[in-house]
Amino acid sequence: DRTVRVALLGCGTVGSQVVRLLREHADDLAARSGARLDLVGIAVRDTAADREPWVPRELLSDDAQGLVRRADVVIELVGGIEPARTLVLAALGAGASVVTGNKALLAAHGPELHAAAEASGADLYYEAAVAGAVPVVYALRESMAGDNVTAVLGIVNGTTNFILDEMATRGLGFDEALALAQELGYAEADPTADVDGHDAAAKAAILASLAFHTRVGIDDVPVAGIRSVTAQDMAEARDAGYVIKLLAVARRVGDDGARGISVRVHPALLPATHPLAAVRGAFNAVVVESEAAGRLMFYGQGAGGAPTASAVMGDVVAAAAHRVGGGNAPRESVYAQLPLLAPEQT
Ligand code: NDP
Ligand code: HSE
Repeated sequence: DRTVRVALLGCGTVGSQVVRLLREHADDLAARSGARLDLVGIAVRDTAADREPWVPRELLSDDAQGLVRRADVVIELVGGIEPARTLVLAALGAGASVVTGNKALLAAHGPELHAAAEASGADLYYEAAVAGAVPVVYALRESMAGDNVTAVLGIVNGTTNFILDEMATRGLGFDEALALAQELGYAEADPTADVDGHDAAAKAAILASLAFHTRVGIDDVPVAGIRSVTAQDMAEARDAGYVIKLLAVARRVGDDGARGISVRVHPALLPATHPLAAVRGAFNAVVVESEAAGRLMFYGQGAGGAPTASAVMGDVVAAAAHRVGGGNAPRESVYAQLPLLAPEQT
């Protein structure tokens, strides 16, 4: 029987659900990946903290670096830049496959991580980094590889969509709605990343990179969050037949579609009849427009432990299958030279 050693870094909202799925679905996961997935350790900050009952205490460790050296597949669910960056680079450098949900890290250091993966022949998977459970990374990277994407736009932050929705439909105040989003496990460890649009900007950068076969970083994305949206704005929008949504937009710009690309994040007024206007709570939706396919829409739970763990586990199965010879490596092509346009150029 083949075995793939899996190390989990981080056992919070998402990581704890990954442990649950690894344990509850062990036989199915083995059948689907062609190898038994052996969880060799779980790195956390505080090994003495209370955990969900299914988390095996004997696997907890505060030595993430040591754990990385013992794994074939490393799942990074720590979040933030450091120590996540150092750990992911160590894993890739050692030839381990890495699965991460860390959009902040990818949007800030994507080229460095991809170069490290390429140098050692390791695989880097990150479906969970954009829109939680919604398989939009796979769609852009694999399914759309034969087409030319012209635009990607969507609601890619569950916390802000939840807050706007609660304010609009239940009359909740901003702080009350944010607290609820945190309680439900949607928000980042520091929710300013959600509220000020930086989490959506990181996702926009990742989506634009995939859609346009280039590298867009978080600093390339002009961003405005939802802090200044008031209850009165919401009411006036509603009365006029609109809703306010935080949108991430990436599009090719120019008459021939080839002058450059524009990427941005900002609150927008959408007609109540627009498909994105119907996206409620922490759900996400991404619309992709392309030359041949036309318009596609991807929709589902964009945040939360179990939905995000679903995307993580899909990547873990792909990584394990590829390691034992039965699956595909992620194919990412970066070759395009389209310049990024400033907002005033678009
Ligand atoms: P949490 O804050 O809930 O969990 C973080 C985990 O990392 C905790 O278990 C923490 O340990 C551990 N950790 C933190 N620092 C260290 C360190 N220095 N060494 C070892 N372990 C450490 O985060 P989430 O689960 O919400 O998010 C994880 C990642 O997934 C992030 O990148 C996030 O952006 C991404 N993501 C989250 C989604 C969500 O809905 N929550 C959705 C999509 C992506 P301890 O438990 O001891 O504190
Ligand atoms: N904080 C993020 C959100 C988690 O609310 O969308 C999912 O990436």
